[in-house]
Amino acid sequence: MSIASETLFKNRKTHIPQAPFNVTTAFIQSARGAVMVDVGGRELIDFAGGIGVNNVGHCHPKVVAAIKEQAGRFIHTCFHVAMYDSYVNLAEKLNGLAPGDFPRMTMFTNSGAEAVENAVKLARYVKKRPAIICFHNAFHGRTYMAMTLTSKIKPYKLGFEPFAPEVYRIPFAYCYRCTFGLRYPQCNVFCAEYLEEFFLDHVAPEATAAVIAEPIQGEGGFITPPPEYFIKLKRICQKYDIILIIDEVQTGVGRTGKFFAIEHWGIEPDIIILAKSLAGGMPLAAVTARKDMMEIVHVGGLGGTFAGNPISCAAALAVLEILIQDDVMKQAVILGEKIADRFNALFRNYEIIGDVRGKGPMMAMELVEDRQSKKPATDAAKKLVQFCFEQGLILLSCGTYGNVIRTLMPLVITDEQLKCGFDILEEGLRKLNQKS
Ligand SMILES: Cc1ncc(COP(=O)(O)O)c(C=O)c1O
Repeated sequence: MSIASETLFKNRKTHIPQAPFNVTTAFIQSARGAVMVDVGGRELIDFAGGIGVNNVGHCHPKVVAAIKEQAGRFIHTCFHVAMYDSYVNLAEKLNGLAPGDFPRMTMFTNSGAEAVENAVKLARYVKKRPAIICFHNAFHGRTYMAMTLTSKIKPYKLGFEPFAPEVYRIPFAYCYRCTFGLRYPQCNVFCAEYLEEFFLDHVAPEATAAVIAEPIQGEGGFITPPPEYFIKLKRICQKYDIILIIDEVQTGVGRTGKFFAIEHWGIEPDIIILAKSLAGGMPLAAVTARKDMMEIVHVGGLGGTFAGNPISCAAALAVLEILIQDDVMKQAVILGEKIADRFNALFRNYEIIGDVRGKGPMMAMELVEDRQSKKPATDAAKKLVQFCFEQGLILLSCGTYGNVIRTLMPLVITDEQLKCGFDILEEGLRKLNQKS
């Protein structure tokens, strides 16, 4: 660590509580594309993208220009007090992008968790039913309802009890560690059908307002369901008139090579939540839902002072323009193939990798002590992340056991940066191999 970083880190420890965690000790002075520069001038290749926020890259010139232009005119009016067209234009664009041939409406919030809260409020209001069904390994944020919906106890939930009522949890389609001990495809995706059984002795479908799911579980370990999964889940929801909320906070805005990851499964959710990469690094989240649902809620029932801030909306419009005009989505598909090739090659060479999964550039590898027992190699994942950081690569782990290494790099990363990052990652795996 540089002296400048060391001093800042000392101050950080003195003045800021430990709970808002830090993955690295880096203090950043500038960032462009897929590279950050710390206060000591050290370059870091970014495979984390601010936890999936920088899909179009750090400081994309069009995003910076949009922010500057908007800040020069006005910064805040509060949409509820005096409106601005960027809020409306962005809503219109997201309504058009959402899968499904029916009218949609969008409202904005400040964060992913707040969008989750609003989606749940909307679902309960519309259905006049209390229960919400969520999943093992889910992550939906840190506010009370979002935390309740989140699965992992440590560090997210322990000590913060009691949780919100009427939340029920079922297993997800975690094929590598199937809760039911079944194997795909012979299982016939029983985990989706299990919801019908769940209704018999946990909560009635008539009391259930919504099912909330991530298309690919992010913090939970990039758990990627098989193709039939969401089709079955949606069918059951439709049968009982239950709302399906798809949380695309981490998977959305091109992360998987499609604007919404749920497009890979070909279903049309009732409510979709976006955040993270939506506004190129500015805080913004969106709740996009069927118009017939959105229109029911009374005036003033939803909203917020900063929600849909003009600078964030301007930045988000620039992000959408970049995704389309610069063909970033096409780049993302190609990037995904390169990542998959590299991960699959690593899988062939390193026994510690038990599973490789994901869609497009949203890929992960699950580390295990051995492929037979599948015992999570949590310590190894920690060491790998630390080694990579020391060598100049910012990498994130995830998963209920903290043993999954994931890729969330900006989609505009160059081939050279990608290779350099993966070479560091492979060197780390080699080192782990030598020790075992
Ligand atoms: C799927 C998902 N939902 C919700 C959230 C919460 O978003 P935020 O941190 O913006 O509140 C996250 C954050 O990582 C997430 O990955």
